[in-house]
Amino acid sequence: MSNQQVLMTAVGSYLPAKVVSNDDLSTFVDTDDTWIRRRTGISQRHIVAEGETTADLAKHAALEALANAKLTGDDIDIIIVATTTPDNTFPSTASKLQHQLGAKTAIAFDVQAVCAGFIYALDIADAMLQSGRGCRALVVGAESFSKLLDWKDRSTCVLFGDGAGAVILETSQDSADWGIRSSVLHSDGAYRDILYVDGGPSINGKVGHVRMEGKEVFRHAVEKLAEVMDEALVAAKMSFEDIDWFVPHQANIRIIDAMQKKMGLASDRVVRTVDKHANTSAASIPLALATAINDGRIQNGNVVAMEAIGGGLVWGAALVKFGRPALT
Ligand code: COA
Repeated sequence: MSNQQVLMTAVGSYLPAKVVSNDDLSTFVDTDDTWIRRRTGISQRHIVAEGETTADLAKHAALEALANAKLTGDDIDIIIVATTTPDNTFPSTASKLQHQLGAKTAIAFDVQAVCAGFIYALDIADAMLQSGRGCRALVVGAESFSKLLDWKDRSTCVLFGDGAGAVILETSQDSADWGIRSSVLHSDGAYRDILYVDGGPSINGKVGHVRMEGKEVFRHAVEKLAEVMDEALVAAKMSFEDIDWFVPHQANIRIIDAMQKKMGLASDRVVRTVDKHANTSAASIPLALATAINDGRIQNGNVVAMEAIGGGLVWGAALVKFGRPALT
């Protein structure tokens, strides 16, 4: 292991302009605002416009993150886009983004770990930077998840939204205890049937729609997220008291609140965006991070705990001391 740290130095985000409220949904599917708010905490979601793609969302978020870090595409060595809704089956959305950013010397690829995609991409980027594959990485979570929804299925279509978030990772030799302190990943394909899309290139050549056993997913989420957060804390030699901010995947307010209670955190230490963004899959954590950094809640030097679970099942957690130490 090197002494090198991988810092998270900047964030960016983007939400498509179109907002769809719960009342809007109830005009064409048998649901209502009260049920959705009470069972999920969601009041609205952003949805891509006609012709707007995942790469477009990723580009906006990436450009904001680069500007916040005072960098350009030329400075980036690795681009990873976590997405389940790529523009094309291939090439990767990351390749498209690389071209759009003019990041000519970067390598670029997508990671598909659904709602845990951002944590997976962060872990991979950290390992690559630690092993000397570059000095700077751009990690993006971007989704047009609305494209995977069956708008006649009220048990799933009310839960998701579109958006993108991006972070810049930079190596540093003299920032002990800063940056990515730990990340832990898990998968268990035995549960692949409780949350999946019923299409794909080798199944039927169709994009397909999300299918979910909501109660089962809920049960696994609370159990597995609690375990993996414990593991991330042990790996970082930290305890719950060291966490300044909890930025969980934004799937359901009841899962977030259950985790907050298990962790013994004060409610105002939890970043909640699920009401406005709904579940944006791989984009949800970087979008929530950017929200709390932009509004001044998360400050340079704060320890941020992140965690997510998604179809697979795949899940993970990461602890990051955000920003960089002041120059002395
Ligand atoms: N509007 C109104 N009623 C709805 C509804 C909707 N959008 N969706 C489901 N219902 C109804 C059901 O039909 C059912 O009616 P019934 O009792 O007459 O059969 C009732 O509400 C309860 O449904 P159920 O599925 O048991 O609700 P729930 O309390 O489990 O909540 C979820 C459903 C999906 C909100 C919840 O299970 C959940 O959040 N699961 C985790 C999902 C998740 O996090 N997925 C992403 C992971 S990345």
